[in-house]
Formats: sequence, C-alpha cells, structure tokens
Amino acid sequence: MSLIFELNSEAHVLICGASRGIGLALCAALLARDDVTQVWAVARKASTATELARLADQYGDRLKRVDCDACNEQSLEALVSDALGECDHLHLVISTLGILHQDGAKAEKGLAQLTLASMQASFATNTFAPILLLKHLLPLLRKQPSTFAALSARVGSIGDNRLGGWYSYRASKAALNQLLHTASIELKRLNPASTVLAIHPGTTDTELSQPFQANVPDGQLFEPAFSADRIIELVGAHGPSDSGTFWAWDDKPIVW
Ligand SMILES: NC(=O)c1ccc[n+]([C@@H]2O[C@H](COP(=O)([O-])OP(=O)(O)OC[C@H]3O[C@@H](n4cnc5c(N)ncnc54)[C@H](OP(=O)(O)O)[C@@H]3O)[C@@H](O)[C@H]2O)c1
Repeated sequence: MSLIFELNSEAHVLICGASRGIGLALCAALLARDDVTQVWAVARKASTATELARLADQYGDRLKRVDCDACNEQSLEALVSDALGECDHLHLVISTLGILHQDGAKAEKGLAQLTLASMQASFATNTFAPILLLKHLLPLLRKQPSTFAALSARVGSIGDNRLGGWYSYRASKAALNQLLHTASIELKRLNPASTVLAIHPGTTDTELSQPFQANVPDGQLFEPAFSADRIIELVGAHGPSDSGTFWAWDDKPIVW
C-alpha cells in the first residue's frame, strides 16, 4: 500500500511530537520504509532526545531533528523558514501533540478540580498547537497528494462519552476534531488531493497514559510500535474522499 492515497513518488514526512511515545515510534516505522525519503522529527527537545539520536545514528540524513515549541507561533514560523527552508512539499504530516497530566494539565475527576490555568494548558497543546502547526505548514501542503493527520482521542467524542471525567482533555480533543473538520473543508478547496484525518491511536504505553494504565483491560494496552503501524495503515487507507473524518486504530469510524 502506498504511504498516502495516490502517492506515486517517495515521501517527505513531518512528525510533530516526535521525541517519545507514539511520535517516536512513527519516526522509526517511517524510516524503515523504502518509500520515505525524509523524516522531520519535531519536538521541543528533539535535538537532545536519546531515542531520536539513536535513529539519527542508524538513518543519517534521512532524519532531521528540529526543536520547536508548537504552542509558540514564532517557533512554528522558524520551523518553516529555517528547518524546512529547502523543502517544497510535505506528503504527510502527523501531529502527535497532546498532554493529559503534564505541563500544568490535569486529568480532572470532577468539576471541583477544574482551574482556568489547567484548562488553558490542555487546550494550548491539544487543540491550538496542532491547528497552528497546520496553519504554518499550509504552504507545504498545497501541491500533489498530502495528508495531515492529528492524533485525537476517543474520549473527545461527545456521542461516545458515557463515563464523564477528564473534562479538559475530552473538551480539548472535541475542539481539535471540530478544527480538523473545518480545515478539511478549506483544504479541499486549496488542494483537492489533500486529506485531513483525526485518529484515535488506542490506549498506548507512553508517559501520557502511564498513571492510568492500571484500569486498562488485558490486551488493550498497545506498544507504541503497534499503534504507529496501525496509524500508518489508516493514513494509507483514507484519501481525499474521507477528509474531515475521525477514525480509531482498528479502522472503525468514531462518532463525533
Ligand atoms: N497514549 C495513549 O494511550 C493515547 C490514547 C489516546 C490518544 N493519545 C494521543 O496520542 C498523541 C501522542 O500521545 P503519546 O502518548 O505518544 O504522548 P507522549 O509520550 O507524552 O508524547 C508527546 C510528544 O509531544 C511532544 N510535545 C508536547 N508538547 C509539545 C510542544 N508544545 N511542542 C512540540 N512538541 C511537544 C513531546 O515532546 P517534548 O516534550 O520533547 O516537546 C512528545 O514527543 C497525543 O495527542 C495523545 O493525546 C494517546
């Protein structure tokens, strides 16, 4: 299967949120493919991340590590003007940006735990950063087939919310989904060969899920490499006619 729908050339790919977890596993899986020429691995501390350094030793110049804070528009501008200066098209961008209990965000159990600061922290990384990333990368997504996929979460589905809790994380992912769907409509006009997808990777063994893994049923906590492979399959299976839709790791659609 080609990396993205109707792509007949080798691909240039950018992963934002690449220093650990699912983003790091995506970098490793993409670098192992013959049809991927270049992987830009973006995170706040990409240049000093040990595992990315290991991939750089293995794959040399095919991996470019870029330090960028996706919550900061100046940093996003520098990503495009400096690091991506010689790149004229990205075939695939995957945002794995997300926080649940880090950087001031809280996984609230009840209303009493909500604070303005923690809600703003969740929305800054989970909602605003991925769509600002898309804004800044737009000039590189306007030709040829291109796919922008962002990792959302099933708990961002309003229709699927039966348990409550995790107010900020749920709401920030629901808002991300709306932004992605809206962007898919604009991108369709700018580049009919573009695709925008929201993807739930499944519960995956990373720093983000670590404090909550005790309640995960047997067999339902995935290794990052497994989730990365499922995400790459999803991206290959869903082209422009599915742009603006929300998918789970097992290729089943998720209700908004
Ligand atoms: N793990 C799960 O069970 C699960 C389930 C459902 C959905 N998801 C979603 O999947 C995505 C990936 O999650 P994960 O578990 O792999 O998380 P993770 O292990 O915590 O990794 C998050 C990555 O994002 C980067 N990052 C965070 N803030 C950033 C910023 N402002 N600018 C640039 N990079 C930033 C981090 O690197 P630096 O700290 O170096 O910047 C790190 O590389 C998230 O969107 C999450 O919500 C995860």
